[in-house]
Amino acid sequence: MKPNVSLAGGHILVYLHLLLLAVHITAYKPLSDSFLKLIPDAGADLDINNDKGLLAPILIPRVSGTQGALKTQEHFVNFFKKELPKWTIEWHNSTSKTPVSGNKEVPFANLIFKREPPWVKPGQSNLLTLVAHYDSKYTPEGFIGATDSAAPCAMLMHVARSIDKYVTQMHDEMADLGEGGTVAMDMGVQILLLDGEEAFVRWTDEDSLYGSR
Ligand SMILES: *[C@@H]1O[C@H](CO)[C@@H](O)[C@H](O)[C@H]1NC(C)=O
Repeated sequence: MKPNVSLAGGHILVYLHLLLLAVHITAYKPLSDSFLKLIPDAGADLDINNDKGLLAPILIPRVSGTQGALKTQEHFVNFFKKELPKWTIEWHNSTSKTPVSGNKEVPFANLIFKREPPWVKPGQSNLLTLVAHYDSKYTPEGFIGATDSAAPCAMLMHVARSIDKYVTQMHDEMADLGEGGTVAMDMGVQILLLDGEEAFVRWTDEDSLYGSR
């Protein structure tokens, strides 16, 4: 889960290229200990006391359909709008009844942040997809789900910001070389932050995975 994010520029570009190419060939590759030791921590971004960071503002109850969920969505959207304007933002909203809402429909909102080559045709890019859910469990009251999954959401935001300039560099170099324009070459990244993963009462096929089904 921990991103390889602030290595020297050349390294990460090569890494990103390899990572994106590797997706076609094999899903998993062992990483060496020496490689893993180079992974830096995210510093102030993930400091739980840093209100201006990526994590602290979402260490709140985030039950689907509540104010906490809205605040969390706002935190994500504001971050991408302000800091990563080249990423597109898509909402996938739905509603469902839940065992605690009775006949009332609860709203769920998935967010998709996407960074594709600027020349891409709709639906043509192949995307490295990173996903976490942001809703927290309905019980116990006040539950903030720090590791499930506020921290992974904040890590993915940190990843997005850390790789953005390298994705830009990769796309610029491809444009210079006249590459791109095919599905295989048009590589990008998307981050899915999903709502409604948790069960409201007890995990069953019906009571779970509302937004993130
Ligand atoms: C989806 O729902 C959120 C509230 O959770 C709202 O801010 C957003 O505008 C909605 N988007 C669409 C496309 O309906």
